[in-house]
Amino acid sequence: MKSSILVVAISGLLTGAFPPEMMAMFSDIEARQVPSTDAAQKLSRDRTNCGPTPCSGFNAKEQLVSTSGQNAYASPKAGQIRGPCPGLNAAANHGYLSRSGVTTIPETIAGLSAAFGMSPELSAFLAAYAVIFVGNPLLGTWSIGGPPPSSILTGGLLGGAQGISYSHNVYEGDASIGRKDAYLNNGDAHSLDIKRFTEVYALGLKDDRYTLDMFAQDFLKKSQQSIATNPYYFAAPFSGTLVAPVAYNFVINLMSNHSASEPSGYLDGYNFKQFFGVSGDYPNFKWLKGQERIPENWYRRPSTNQYGIANGFLDFATNFAAYPDSLKLGGNTNGVNTYVGVNLSDLTGGAYNADDLLSLKTGKAACFYAQLAQVLVPDAALPLVGELAAILRLVNKWIKPITGSWDCPFIGQYDQTLFNQFPGYKYRPKGPATNYMKQ
Ligand code: HEM
Repeated sequence: MKSSILVVAISGLLTGAFPPEMMAMFSDIEARQVPSTDAAQKLSRDRTNCGPTPCSGFNAKEQLVSTSGQNAYASPKAGQIRGPCPGLNAAANHGYLSRSGVTTIPETIAGLSAAFGMSPELSAFLAAYAVIFVGNPLLGTWSIGGPPPSSILTGGLLGGAQGISYSHNVYEGDASIGRKDAYLNNGDAHSLDIKRFTEVYALGLKDDRYTLDMFAQDFLKKSQQSIATNPYYFAAPFSGTLVAPVAYNFVINLMSNHSASEPSGYLDGYNFKQFFGVSGDYPNFKWLKGQERIPENWYRRPSTNQYGIANGFLDFATNFAAYPDSLKLGGNTNGVNTYVGVNLSDLTGGAYNADDLLSLKTGKAACFYAQLAQVLVPDAALPLVGELAAILRLVNKWIKPITGSWDCPFIGQYDQTLFNQFPGYKYRPKGPATNYMKQ
């Protein structure tokens, strides 16, 4: 498969943050056309589990992820926090992140690189968003689940250093792989729904293999299900349009096992269950709450092809080009099956339009998400002066650099009133004061 064809759509992404080898891969971009849906579906099917850039070569020593010594598995103790993200939970259970479940940006960068081969700029971007919007900008910390005890002392922009568990519409969104929509589950969108997991597990039963294309289709199905069952279904720009769909790509790109015979990796049912903390045999599964694990003798993607922002947006673009109906920005307006989409150009005062996300033709998606963080900051709350300065430092250090020297369109006007038509927009479930896993 010629993976370079995939990049048709992302010319504008090719700047500072991307490594030279990826830049080289994109050299013929300008000459190519945006693929038709059929062509994009073929590209989607042809992708390896390393994403659009196959992984070449296998280095057992470099890729083996330690699960012993300081990285030995331990279930969370009372007081240790776990949340909606199986990747983060597994990393914390093996000490790649603080076992407490409260972490920092530098620790996230180091931990996710060692455990999964996630690139520093992608980890930093995701972690910085968490610190700014659901964490503690003054301390530079964020929680992978519910609020840490210290959050009573400090703010956090949206809801008091809430952590990601109850960050609905801020970080956590509807139509997830294994978690129910918050509104349909009394606000709980962090617990694995075993029925949902069993359904997604069934997709790979035949060959005991899971692929990016399978999961791209599953996200389309989940979005349609949410629209048909959740009157509060809402896809916000960050949580719904980026985080929820991209998590599907994370399963394949970051949880696949690698070997000399399959250097681009494969995900089988056993490892899928291990990472999601699931025991039992199909279809009799049980979720072991907070006990997500990195499997023994598991080899992550190679450091020569870490999963970064460029890879991430290529998968994002391929999925939406292949299954355009899965791109949602908007929600149900008046009960189920009343989905209305918001025009991105109206939302951003003309700075960005849907093509920038759907086809990434001009490659402005990274710009859009980097800008979004900046427009949401002053709007989100009235941070204290000290907090605001800390937030701006975080934006400058970790978020702005992802677009390198590219001249990103500036969002002069961000019209959030367009979201007022969606009842789900204002839905902000609050979790229990402590969301700690118990033995
Ligand atoms: C700083 C890094 C990360 C942050 C802030 C983060 C945050 C999140 C959040 C907020 C969710 C809930 C999204 C939703 O509503 O669907 C989520 C889900 C998910 N994340 Fe992460 N994540 C990170 C890294 C990772 C990594 C490294 C992996 C894989 C190894 C991963 C895999 C997943 C998966 C598979 C889900 C969906 C779970 C489900 O629906 O059952 N994430 N993550």
